[in-house]
Amino acid sequence: MADTSHAPKDRGGMDWIIPFYGWRGARMGPTGIFDSHRARAASIARLCGSGTKRVLDLGAGAGGTAAAIADLGHDVVAIELEPVRAGFARDLAAERRAGDLTILEANYFEVALDGLFDVIGHWDSFGMGADTDQQQLLRRIAGQWLARDGHVLLDVFNPIWWAVRHGQVTRHDWCGMIELHEFDPIAMRFIDTWWIDGDEAHAHAQTARCYSPADFALLLEGTGLVIRAMEVNGTPLPTVEGWRSMAQWQDEAFSYHVVLARTDGTDTAGASDRTADSYTANSAEVRSPSAE
Ligand SMILES: C[S@@+](CC[C@H](N)C(=O)[O-])C[C@H]1O[C@@H](n2cnc3c(N)ncnc32)[C@H](O)[C@@H]1O
Repeated sequence: MADTSHAPKDRGGMDWIIPFYGWRGARMGPTGIFDSHRARAASIARLCGSGTKRVLDLGAGAGGTAAAIADLGHDVVAIELEPVRAGFARDLAAERRAGDLTILEANYFEVALDGLFDVIGHWDSFGMGADTDQQQLLRRIAGQWLARDGHVLLDVFNPIWWAVRHGQVTRHDWCGMIELHEFDPIAMRFIDTWWIDGDEAHAHAQTARCYSPADFALLLEGTGLVIRAMEVNGTPLPTVEGWRSMAQWQDEAFSYHVVLARTDGTDTAGASDRTADSYTANSAEVRSPSAE
C-alpha cells in the first residue's frame, strides 16, 4: 500500500493528536451542540438506566456531547487534551445547564480524578494509540473510575466501513476543507487526512485502530470489563440469525457502539443480557440474542 506524506509515521504513536485537533479545531471553530450529541446523551437512559448519573466524558473534543448530557440533568466531568477544543468546551460549560459540567484540560492517561462515575463515555475516540494504550485506558476505567454497577459507552471504529473507502476524497464545503480516507489493512488503522482546499502541502492526518467485534473482545480480556451490548445506530448487533452481511458492515456506520460493565459488577439496567462470550473469536458465529 502506498504511504502518504501526511500520515503519522508511527501509527500507534500519539504525537499527532494535539497538532491535528488544534489545527482543525481552530479552522472549524466551536461546533456547539449537534443533534447527534443530543442523541448520545439520550442513549444514557436507554443503555444505562434512568435517573441522574455522574458521567465522565473521555476525549470530549469541543464539548458538545458533554453539554448535551449536562442539559439532561446529569453531572459531567469532561477531559480534553487539546487546548483549543478544551477552550470551546469551557465556553459551553460557562452557560447555564441543568446539571454540572466541569471541563478538565488534561491527558486521560495521566489525570487523577476524585470519586467514581456511573457512566463513562468515550465517543468517536477509541483506538488512537497502540493496542497496549487501549488496554491501559480500559484498565484505568475499570480499576479507578467506573462505579461497580456503572456502564461504559464506547464507539469502536468499524474496519470494513473504512477499508472500502480507501482513497475516497470528500470536500466539506462548510469549512472549505478536503478529506482523504485511507485504510492500512496490515495495521488495521484508518488514516484520515485533512487539508484546506488548495493547500494540500499543509495537510494533517488522524489515525485510529479499527477492531472487529471479535478482536475487540480479545483486546478486552484481562482489563476488568465485559461486553453488555453492542449496537449499530441503535440497532442491536447482530440482527439477522446471528450474522450481519458484509453489505451492512460496509455501508451502515464508521463505528459501532459497545456497552461495557465491570467484570465484578452486578447491574444489567438498560443493557442487553448478552455476555462477552457471545463475541469472542472462539464463537462459531456472533450469535443473536434469540439464538442464546
Ligand atoms: C475524534 S475527537 C472526538 C471528540 C468527541 N468525543 C466527539 O465525539 O465529538 C477525539 C478527541 O479526543 C481527544 N484526545 C485524544 N487523546 C486524548 C487524551 N490522551 N486525553 C484527553 N483527550 C484526548 C482529542 O484531542 C480529540 O479532541
